[in-house]
This record gives sequence, structure tokens and C-alpha cells, in this order.
Amino acid sequence: MKADLLLGLQWGDEGKGKIVDVLAPKYDVVARFQGGPNAGHTLEFDGHKHVLRSIPSGVFAKGAITNVIGNGVVLDPVLFRGEAEQLEADGVDLHSILKISKKAHLIMPTHRLLDAAGERAMGSGKIGTTGKGIGPTYTDKVSRHGLRVGDTLREDFAERYAAARDAHLARLAAMGATPADNFAALEQEWLDAVAYLRTFALTDTEHYINKTLDADHSVLCEGAQGTMLDVDFGSYPFVTSSNTVAAGACTGLGIAPGRIGNVYGIFKAYCTRVGSGPFPTELFDETGATIRNIGHEYGAVTGRERRCGWLDLVALRYAVMINGATHLIMMKSDVLDGFDTIKVCTAYRMPDGTVTTDFPYSVGDNAEGAGIVEPIYEELPGWKTDLSKARTEAELPQAFRDYIAFIEEKVGVPVAVISVGPDREETIIR
Ligand code: GDP
Ligand code: IMO
Ligand code: MG
Repeated sequence: MKADLLLGLQWGDEGKGKIVDVLAPKYDVVARFQGGPNAGHTLEFDGHKHVLRSIPSGVFAKGAITNVIGNGVVLDPVLFRGEAEQLEADGVDLHSILKISKKAHLIMPTHRLLDAAGERAMGSGKIGTTGKGIGPTYTDKVSRHGLRVGDTLREDFAERYAAARDAHLARLAAMGATPADNFAALEQEWLDAVAYLRTFALTDTEHYINKTLDADHSVLCEGAQGTMLDVDFGSYPFVTSSNTVAAGACTGLGIAPGRIGNVYGIFKAYCTRVGSGPFPTELFDETGATIRNIGHEYGAVTGRERRCGWLDLVALRYAVMINGATHLIMMKSDVLDGFDTIKVCTAYRMPDGTVTTDFPYSVGDNAEGAGIVEPIYEELPGWKTDLSKARTEAELPQAFRDYIAFIEEKVGVPVAVISVGPDREETIIR
């Protein structure tokens, strides 16, 4: 069997959590392949809302589904513990359904301090990170100084931790940052959480995933963030520190490229971005505020306002190309219900006046502002219908179907799933 992927095609927060939860009952395994608690994946069903950060969104699905935290993920034991204990309180028997890669890297308290100090040092040019220590942890991984989940099983773990911490403290001191008075308490909380982490199945998950596929069992890989935040292909340096694209599932789980099956690329009917960096279709006017209010566009992790704008098909086509998306999933269609007309960006006018439909090297390199390219829009009629009640394709108004057909034609990939509300049930599978 081949592994299917589900990943974000925009700047994150596309609705990955919701759709993984919807698709999970069809799979034997759901596996996260990168990112960490910078992610906030929201699931809604039975009138309850759950936000997952490091734990895969397959944990609520009925049936014998195993969830895997892959080696490409960075894990903060304290945040993991909070999330896991909440799930167990909600009746999820997490200890029996979760496996954690021994090769996943650990986020230490000092990584969070380094994240904050790095942002402070950049001033107005800051990335606007989630402050969870993501960048410093991946930096340690790549510079071969990281601590891994498997290290917690070693007898000398305490010494390894202390050596890494001391190196971080020296770096912090050089940046003029001293840990707060409660640092010792934070450290103790972290060490206690590491002991809690060890009560889970710490596993060589690359073997587990490949044996699962060998046995013809199915695997759904869940991405975090989105393609435009990818460290290689996103709007660098305003990106996260991992490969959020399809290739990230190969390295983040140990799946060979030939074992990838369907690639579900998920996008909103418009665009949002949280944090700094260029955003070509950003709306600074009343329309942007309306989308934010109707779409409740506030970060699931930080509560920050999400910047809003029209759908950007130049960026979407690029994301489809980089990921080899085989199917599209369109989210939050209902948010545009009230608009008389809807704009879609189909090309960019470059600073030299030329027009392109190929996503360029740079769309801007400053922290704020709409960027250096000028979006060229086509305007489509709105559908002016409450989509949230629709459960079948037949119930969808013609103007909305035309909107989807327009996107499919421009991007060249079919829209397989349409989401018309946050609840599990508010989903149309075509
Ligand atoms: P993720 O990070 O990709 O999992 O997405 P988030 O959970 O951060 O953000 C998506 C938000 O939109 C959440 O609050 C969801 O509950 C909500 N949502 C998901 N799908 C829909 C939809 O089709 N319509 C509306 N109105 N809200 C949705
Ligand atoms: P999900 O999985 C939206 C953004 C941050 C910041 C940049 C770098 O919920 O879609 P980091 O803390 O990763 O170093 O921050 O990336 N960012 C996200 N934006 N959704 C996310 O995750 C994000 N994870 C990180 O706002 O701009
Ligand atoms: Mg999110």
C-alpha cells in the first residue's frame, strides 16, 4: 500500500485538522511528519472543539487507528503533556494508540528563550514566530547538537541535557538575555514532563510505518503549517524551520518517494497569513476585516489576528506543483457566502511591469506590507447562499460550482472535498 499525504497549500491554518479527522476512519495509521507545537489543528464534532498541536488529528476517529509522531517533528515535553492529559481526560486512551519516534527532537525551555531573544534582536524585521522554540530546535538538529526523544532512555540523559542547556545559556548571555527567576521551576517541569513522555511507546517509527505499508494497511500523513511557510519554497526568511511540503513526509517519517500515493492539498477559498512576511493578496480594507470576522481568523495557538486576502492562484499553482497534489480540498467556502462578487488573483505584475503566472523568486522581503508584486484579479459573481446547510453536491448553487470550476481549470487538479463549516459533518465529498 502507498501512504497518502494531507498538507497545507497556503500559509497554514487551512483546516488540516478538520479534514484529517474526517478522513481518519478510512485509515489504519495517521502520522505527523514535521513541525511542532507551532501548529494548532482544530477539530469540531458533537458540539465540542479540540485544538491539537503536536498530536496527530486521528486520535478521535472511531476504530483501531494508531497515531504516530514522526522523526521530523519537534516535541516540547511540557506542551505534549498538557495536550495528552487533556485528551485522556476527554476519554481518549492515548497511551494505547500513540507511538512517538525516538528520532524526534526535543524542544528545551532554553529553545523557547532563544526563539524570543532572536525575535527581539530582529526588531521590526522579526519573523513573528509562535515563540515555541521551533527555529532554535531545528537549528540544533541540523548543527548536530540536538537532543532526541530516544536520548531520554539513556542513563546519561541528565548530563546531556545539562550540557545542551549550558550551551544555550551562554548563547543567551551573549545576546544579553538572562533567564527569568522561575527558570529552575520551568526546568523541573520540563524534566517531569520528560519522565511522563517516557510512559509512551517510544518507537523506531520508520520501521513501524514501512511494515504497516508492507502489510497493506493504510497510512495518512498529516502536515503542519503550509507550503508558503516551507523553509525552502516559502517566502524566506518569513517561514518556519521545516519542510512542510510533500518531500517532508519522506524525511519526516522515513517513507520512500515511490511509496507516496494520493497527495491531498488543502486550501481556503481565500487566503490568510499569521506573523510577518509578504502576502500579495492581503486586504487592508473593510473586506479583509469582514473575512476575518466571518471566518473567525484568529490564531489557534497565539490568538493573533490572521491577515486576510483573496485567493491567490499564482501561489496555489506553485504549491500544487511543488507537492504533486493529486486532489484539492477547499475549506471555509461558507465564509464567502455574503459577497456580491469575489476576486481571485490569477497573475502578478512584477516591479518591472511584466506579468507572470509563475510564482517568482521573491514577492517581497520586508516583514510587513503586501509585497512587491501587484496581484491581477479576475472578479467572479458571488453565490449569496448559505452553504453551511449543504451536504451534497446537488445542493450547491451554480455560482459556487462555477467558482470551483474556475479554480480547477486554472490549477489543473480536481477539488475532491468541499468544507462548508467547522464541524465534521459540514463536509461534502465529491
Ligand atoms: P489547521 O491548522 O490547518 O488545522 O487549521 P486551524 O484549525 O488552525 O484553522 C482552521 C479554522 O477554521 C478552525 O477554527 C476550524 O474550526 C475552522 N474551519 C475549518 N473548516 C471550516 C469551514 O469549512 N468553514 C468554517 N467557517 N470554518 C472552518
Ligand atoms: P498550522 O499547522 C499558521 C508561522 C508563524 C510565523 C512563522 C514562523 O496550524 O497550520 P515558527 O514558530 O514556526 O518559527 O513561526 O510561521 N506559523 C504558522 N502559521 N499556521 C501554523 O501552523 C503555523 N506555524 C507557524 O506565525 O509567521
Ligand atoms: Mg492552525
